[in-house]
Amino acid sequence: MRIGVLTGGGDCPGLNAVIRAVVRKGVDTYGHEFVGFRDGWRGPLEGLTRPLGVAEVRGILPRGGTILGSSRTNPFKIDGGVERIKSNLAELGIDALVAIGGEDTLGVATKLDELGVNVVGVPKTIDNDLGATDYTFGFDTAVNIAMEAIDRLHTTAESHHRTLVVEVMGRHAGWIALHAGLAGGANVILLPERKFDVDQVATYVEKRFQHQYAPIVVVAEGAQPLEGQMVTQNHELDAFGHVRLGGIGQWLSESLEAKTGKEARTVVLGHIQRGGTPTAFDRVLATRFGLHAIDAVNEGDFGKMVALRSTDISRVPLVEATRELKTVPIERYTEAEVFFGS
Ligand code: F6P
Repeated sequence: MRIGVLTGGGDCPGLNAVIRAVVRKGVDTYGHEFVGFRDGWRGPLEGLTRPLGVAEVRGILPRGGTILGSSRTNPFKIDGGVERIKSNLAELGIDALVAIGGEDTLGVATKLDELGVNVVGVPKTIDNDLGATDYTFGFDTAVNIAMEAIDRLHTTAESHHRTLVVEVMGRHAGWIALHAGLAGGANVILLPERKFDVDQVATYVEKRFQHQYAPIVVVAEGAQPLEGQMVTQNHELDAFGHVRLGGIGQWLSESLEAKTGKEARTVVLGHIQRGGTPTAFDRVLATRFGLHAIDAVNEGDFGKMVALRSTDISRVPLVEATRELKTVPIERYTEAEVFFGS
């Protein structure tokens, strides 16, 4: 078979590990041929390709980012987009596609599958918000990066008797904030799943100062104060209709400084959470996803996404992958609350 591979949406550590596993097993075990599509769905849409053989995937396992490039292109928002994809695939002799992406990329894959394109999906995102899989790769790396930042911020916060507010990514799911906050011993964790009362946060912060210990507040970029509007830097929407989040950390530290009279600073971790080398957990998960995805393609089991269920990799219908956003259950948040302010 001649198989196209693409990576779409926000990049994350582990994408190259998937590409490597797909190509290595696809060539060595099954004798397939590969074509790399550049920049997500823009690749098949505009016929942008690059060679993708065993030589091209040597040495990429530990590399962050994606050798194929990525974009948030939505072919369903472009006139004649689907027809162009179909005709480019036919012209290039592509029998099937492996689409590696999150909610948006896999949403496109689902629709294309319904329109007769042979696709197998692989779930990625640092946000860990895809309902059909226990974990996505990229998440563990992002959490470890945020945890290390929190560890470092503890020491400087203590020296200067300051509040440090750490804003992390995750879009509308609080997984990164919850895990990084728990692992880093944050004083307060704020998630999109539950609106927060800034007066309550200020009380936690003051209590921590009374213990002669400076507070670290971890806030997810999608968290919102009670009765407030979501704080965003700009209101532009991307091709999938998402607003760019960010800014809540600054708003929160200014409010906490005003309420407590103690200096507060903000650290926005931003894209640092998506960059660099993947953790061992993400490398293994990404590699296993890649191996199972090429098995599915080889068997002609299209319209599926590989998923982690407990410790096993299974196949689920693509349509299930994007049906539900996996947010943090409130019980998981309540578990963490025991540490707030103490
Ligand atoms: O979905 C991954 C993610 O990093 C989110 O956590 C974040 O809100 C968004 O992408 C940022 O996207 P961009 O890199 O396009 O600004």
